[in-house]
Amino acid sequence: MKAAILGYGFVGSGAYEITRDFPTGIEVKRVLTRTPRPQLPFVTQDFNDILNDPEIEVVAEAMGGLHPAYEYVTAAMKAGKHVVSANKQLICHYYEELFALAKENGVQLRFTPSAGGGIPWLCNLLRVKRCDEISEVSGILNGTTNYILHCMTQGGLPFDQVLADAQRKGYAEADPSADIDGIDALRKCAISASLAFDTIVEEDSLQAFGIRHITKADVDNFRSLGKVCKLLVKAKKYDDGRIAAFVEPTLLSSDAPESAVPLNGNMTTLVGKWIGRLSLMGQGAGKYPTGSSLVQDMIDISEHAAPIKAGSGMVKADNSAEVHSYYIRSDFNFREIKEDILVEVNGQYCITEPMSVADAHKLAEHIRKTDPAAFFAGISE
Ligand code: HSE
Repeated sequence: MKAAILGYGFVGSGAYEITRDFPTGIEVKRVLTRTPRPQLPFVTQDFNDILNDPEIEVVAEAMGGLHPAYEYVTAAMKAGKHVVSANKQLICHYYEELFALAKENGVQLRFTPSAGGGIPWLCNLLRVKRCDEISEVSGILNGTTNYILHCMTQGGLPFDQVLADAQRKGYAEADPSADIDGIDALRKCAISASLAFDTIVEEDSLQAFGIRHITKADVDNFRSLGKVCKLLVKAKKYDDGRIAAFVEPTLLSSDAPESAVPLNGNMTTLVGKWIGRLSLMGQGAGKYPTGSSLVQDMIDISEHAAPIKAGSGMVKADNSAEVHSYYIRSDFNFREIKEDILVEVNGQYCITEPMSVADAHKLAEHIRKTDPAAFFAGISE
């Protein structure tokens, strides 16, 4: 099957090299880049060279961002081409519309690399769902922040230095704010929850705390508490149909499976009625791991795998019933907080009584008015 790749950054070039060097049955005929690359004859700057080429059956989008990725993938589907994408922002934002367009045009839309990088997460989640009911998805879904937390904890390295390293290694987004503010993980959580629960979880309704303001002092505090900090996503479906979905740095006991996930690793977990708890672990970001997921999606299409079916009906995340304690580090005067939520104040941080994720976000909004650099982390029971 002949293919085109949009974008020749880390993921696009990784996917290209895999198809070049391994007999996958996928031949990449064209690659779209922003800048000319005269040494690569298959490269074009004109998307029409791909759109109007009837031999190209599948378009692999690895550009990132909403535009022009949206315009290109919708045009490709309207022209009868299958689309695979690594772009969580695009998939999350246009979830309903892209699925509808794929159906209308009788083509496939697949996006395994959009959550979990090199981990075959979404495809296995869909496989489990064929004979099971998933009640929960959770885990580490951002490689950049896992890399930062790992290097700050194990190597005592400063935040900025490790972030720059993650950018050099191709883990971070073009604007790493999406990584360090938890937005990239939030989008991956929304995509995973939408597929798991056969619905469309509204991106804007998820709540996220990131790690932008984490300091060496925080890492020392976690150590003295006997905890390991990881950026975790969690989405859960309650029996009454409500869905909780959120992202937060989480203090885990050192023997929790997630605590052992190193470097750019991700670990994704689902809970099914029949299968029970199932976790997958691997590299969640990077050129070849994510590139290989993109190639796998193309192979699935060439082998006529069953199309992915989207759920229907938009739902907002409701985090009012998800309750646990929080670590808060701030120079805010904690005595101003109602005393009944404070368990312990220790210098510049406090541990709260269990409170809902929704309430923790209200409290964060209040504290950040006086201390925008305050750091919040959930504490796993
Ligand atoms: N910036 C993302 C991450 C890339 O660090 O996980 C993979 O989606």
